[in-house]
Amino acid sequence: MQNITDQALVKTESYIDGHWVASTAKIAVCNPANGEVLVNISDANPEIAEQAVVAASKALASWSAKSAQQRSDILRKWFELMIQHQDDLGRILTLEQGKPLAEAKGEIAYGASFIEWFAEEGKRVYGDVIPAPSGDKRILVIKQPVGVVAAITPWNFPNAMIARKAAAALAAGCTFVVRPATQTPLSALAMAELASRAGIPAGVFNVVVGEDASGLGKVLTEHPLVAKFTFTGSTGVGKKLIAQCASTVKKVSMELGGNAPFIVFDDADIDAAVQGALVSKYRNAGQTCVCTNRILVQRKVHKAFCEKFIAAVQDLKVGDGLSSGTQIGPMITTKAASDVHELVQQSIALGAELVLGGRRAEQGDNYYLPTVLTNVTNDMPIANNEIFGPVSPIICFDDESEAIELANATEYGLAGYFYSRNIGRIFRVAESLDFGMIGVNEGAISNAAAPFGGMKQSGNGREGSRYGLDDYLEIKYLCLGGMESHS
Ligand code: SIN
Repeated sequence: MQNITDQALVKTESYIDGHWVASTAKIAVCNPANGEVLVNISDANPEIAEQAVVAASKALASWSAKSAQQRSDILRKWFELMIQHQDDLGRILTLEQGKPLAEAKGEIAYGASFIEWFAEEGKRVYGDVIPAPSGDKRILVIKQPVGVVAAITPWNFPNAMIARKAAAALAAGCTFVVRPATQTPLSALAMAELASRAGIPAGVFNVVVGEDASGLGKVLTEHPLVAKFTFTGSTGVGKKLIAQCASTVKKVSMELGGNAPFIVFDDADIDAAVQGALVSKYRNAGQTCVCTNRILVQRKVHKAFCEKFIAAVQDLKVGDGLSSGTQIGPMITTKAASDVHELVQQSIALGAELVLGGRRAEQGDNYYLPTVLTNVTNDMPIANNEIFGPVSPIICFDDESEAIELANATEYGLAGYFYSRNIGRIFRVAESLDFGMIGVNEGAISNAAAPFGGMKQSGNGREGSRYGLDDYLEIKYLCLGGMESHS
């Protein structure tokens, strides 16, 4: 972990109740760019997770009793510290996750933007007064923090996925326990160090790092002191976690898998569509839930789009995320690269045409070349599975209704994109696509002000925006009786 200016950001123990908690068992955190062990960190067991839940529960009363302004001031300090340490945090993130340094620093700014956003939005948790059905009553609605929130977060955005959940929870007055992915715990622990420096009180923000996914998951989803559970990850794991939460009827919000269509209509600006597809497909080497998964191109512009897109993909530079100019870093593990390769191979066997890539890059087994397949059909494995890698399957279609039908033919409903310059079509298609987020002539849709979340088996709840705060609030109705009626 050299070249980290502030070495105190490199933590190797879970952060619970304001303390760093060691254990004898260790987990090696490796650099996906070269397999080197970065550090060995303490492996927390379920009892430690339980301590974190109890600490969060004890801290709840005083944190929720603070005024929204007081919580906002502390969150703002956390935001400022993240921005001040953006370079170190970005470097830590690249070392453990692999994404190019510029993208990693971008993720720190993106994560911090949620803290800034919710520091402000927490001041606007308004209630309501409703006209009562009889004159002797008054109806008031107040919003209160849900309570202790537990979270499990993924390795693809080790900072931003925690920030997006924790900022909303803390701003609402909840306390928080997160289990980050064991591949990328260092970003989470660095956030805890900065949370402590920002003055977030002990027990309000806790990080439990441990390899026992089912044991820790059980505590976080079943403990009676946890009021709400939130998860970002695959649909398969999400379904199991929802089932576990059912035993205590927890509030849940789930940000699960996606299979984003990217539709290019014949009235699109083709150059803009090529740029949009590049951004939405190859960000984080394709390891993003909202990444384009299938590119659908109308027959009339298929050739023109493919020529330009293939040329642009060919120019993408693969390498170690810390090397200057790298645009595509390693994938998180060798297995992740193998899984992507298998989808490519299976689809070629079914008639897809490999026009670019389709194999490991020279840098090593974790690196997969940016790949383009044409002649793809919607039923091929590369189109009906979430790829989570740098592969673009291109499907040709004839008309608008076919495009919509193909796009919606998936159990997922997270993000979708389309390019068109026809205003009528823009509204028609946007309203017909069964996805929670639609990029219209835009490939980069994520930001703190917008509601991030999916339909169908992509999950429920929203993160970011004013809607993101509602997920951490209970609505309470007060019925005031015995009031004077107007005479
Ligand atoms: C994700 O992949 O789950 C998050 C991507 C984003 O926030 O844009």
